[in-house]
This record gives sequence, C-alpha cells and structure tokens, in this order.
Amino acid sequence: MTTIAITGGHSGLGLICSKKLALLPKVHLLMLGRSTQKIEAVAAKLRSASCTVTVIELDLASLASVRKGADQIRTLSTSGQIPKLDALILNAGIQTLGGTSASFSIDHHEETFAVNGLGNFLLVNLLMDVIAPHGRIVFTASGTHDGESMDGRIIGKAVQPDVRQLAANKPALRGGVRYATSKLCEILYAYELHRRLRAAGKGITVIAYDPGFIPETGLADSSPKIFKVMASQPWVKSILKRIGVTIGREIFSAESLAVLATDARYKDSSNKYFQSHDGVLYERKSSKMSYDARVAGKVWEDSKKLTGITPTEMPNWMA
Ligand SMILES: NC(=O)c1ccc[n+]([C@@H]2O[C@H](COP(=O)([O-])OP(=O)(O)OC[C@H]3O[C@@H](n4cnc5c(N)ncnc54)[C@H](OP(=O)(O)O)[C@@H]3O)[C@@H](O)[C@H]2O)c1
Repeated sequence: MTTIAITGGHSGLGLICSKKLALLPKVHLLMLGRSTQKIEAVAAKLRSASCTVTVIELDLASLASVRKGADQIRTLSTSGQIPKLDALILNAGIQTLGGTSASFSIDHHEETFAVNGLGNFLLVNLLMDVIAPHGRIVFTASGTHDGESMDGRIIGKAVQPDVRQLAANKPALRGGVRYATSKLCEILYAYELHRRLRAAGKGITVIAYDPGFIPETGLADSSPKIFKVMASQPWVKSILKRIGVTIGREIFSAESLAVLATDARYKDSSNKYFQSHDGVLYERKSSKMSYDARVAGKVWEDSKKLTGITPTEMPNWMA
C-alpha cells in the first residue's frame, strides 16, 4: 500500500495530480482541505478497487484546524489504520494580487503568508513522525520566488523574509510581493528541513517544485477576469515564454507533481528544486537567497514561535 497525503487535491493542479496518483497500484490517498463537501465529491469519483480515499478537514489558514487535521492523521497512523506516509504533497496555496491592503487569518496573520507559509510549516512539522523513513515531501513553490528571474520581476520582487513582518503585513507589501515572498519561504522551509533531517541522520526526501505559470487554474481567480482570459491565450503564453517566463502546461505540470512525489527516479532528489517549463521537467537552481542557511534558520525558528509549536508536538530531533 502506498499512502500519500495531498493538500488541495480536489481542484486545480492538485486534482489532476490526485487523478494520476489514484492510478497507482494499491494507493491510499489522504485528501486534506477546508472544503470537505467539494473534496468528498472528488473522493467518491477517485475511489476504486485499488484506490482508497480518506478526506481530512484542514484549513491551512487556521493553526487550530491544521493541528486538528494533523492529529487525525497521526491517530490513523499510530492506531495502525494507515501505514506511515510515503509522500506528503504540500500543494494548496493562495494568491491575491493587487494593492497593499490585505486580509488576515483567524490567527491575525496576513492570509497569503498564513496559508502558503505558516500553515504548511506547521503541517509538515506536525506530520514529521508519521512520514516513512524514506518518504518524500514536496512543496509546491513558484518561480515567482526569484526576484532576479522574469517570473519574479513580473509579479513583484520577493523581499528578504522577516516572519513577524510578513504575518503583520508591516510594512505593507503588494499582493504579488506577498505571494512571491511566501513562495520563497516555502523553498527556505524545504531546504532547512532537508538540513535538519540529514543532521539527524534521517533519509526523508524534500523537494521544492514550481509548476510554471498556468492561468487556467483557480489561482488567478482573484485577478480581473480579463487577465485570466488573456493570459490563457496561446499567443500571450508564447510572448511570455519568449521574454523568459516559466510556462507550465496544466496536465503535464500537475502530473509532474505526482511523479516527483512517487517516481523512483526522484528518490535521491532531496534539497533540489524543479521547474516545469513548456512540457519538460527541469532541475534548476532556485534564487540565491533561497540557499542562505542563515536566513532559512531564522525563518524556521521565527515560524516555530509564531505557530506556537511546542516540543511535544514534534519529534525530539526536530525540537
Ligand atoms: N497556477 C499557477 O500559475 C501556479 C504557478 C506556480 C505555483 N503554483 C502553485 O501551485 C499550487 C496549486 O495551485 P493551483 O494553480 O492549482 O491553484 P488553485 O486551482 O487555486 O488550487 C489551490 C488549492 O489550494 C486550496 N486551498 C486554498 N486555500 C486553502 C486553505 N486555507 N486551506 C486548505 N486548502 C486551501 C484550494 O482549495 P479550496 O477549494 O478550498 O479553495 C485549492 O484546492 C499552489 O501552491 C500555487 O501557489 C501555481
């Protein structure tokens, strides 16, 4: 039995990824998300003779909800109802473009950072004990994290992350910058987690992934409709590609996420960053700042404080 947990596996790229995963022999999918009705409807379609699906309610914008959902998974694991996770796919994410006015989560954290940053950070820490010794964790990041690249320049250059400032949105950042910086944090988490795992002698693989620019999914729904319609035109994508934007292809990029999480070819790809560009999956260098272990260490420690994670909630070697 292959056991895989995925966030946001019921829509957008996550849905295509879940469909690919459901075709694996003897797979148990744990589908995590805030919209349980929507997830149940998808789960019913995915269930088959070889695919079991369990739906877990988990809102990444609420630290209490992340704790509750993670507890449910830990109970399933410790009670022997599921084996340890072969893969954890941190796919769910949000983007709100536009000005500097921001929404805040129930924990009073700026929403983009709450979901893409702190929610993912807490979830991965809480689930560390239930990931198989040679399991995989894939963070769905974004090329926008790199302010030196065209992906980053178009949306707004990520700032050097200060977790408290990001959570408070002080100084206030534009929506694109908030998104790019939250994605930079995801890559910093991925590399820092790899360092901590290896320091503790653990073999879990941690991968960061950029599916490329795909305007067809729900991610751009907060943008004006005309943007989505225009950006989906082949000629617009062709121009964007020519000026250096990483162009994803919906099905290829989503299926590549499943491949990175499960295919034996990527089992030794820890600490690596992949990009899906025009139907090809490349290993690439992420931004210079993403490799700064000092920045990553501080982002990690500050995220621990902000999420209030306690030593009892994580394995000894992580505390
Ligand atoms: N599309 C692109 O151009 C692109 C490029 C680079 C990276 N990415 C990344 O790829 C990932 C998937 O995005 P997508 O393009 O498939 O966008 P999408 O269609 O908007 O899907 C996002 C998923 O995240 C879930 N989600 C949002 N907020 C959540 C919360 N608070 N708690 C739990 N789940 C939540 C959504 O579930 P609900 O149904 O509950 O809203 C949905 O399933 C994201 O991390 C995104 O940043 C996308």
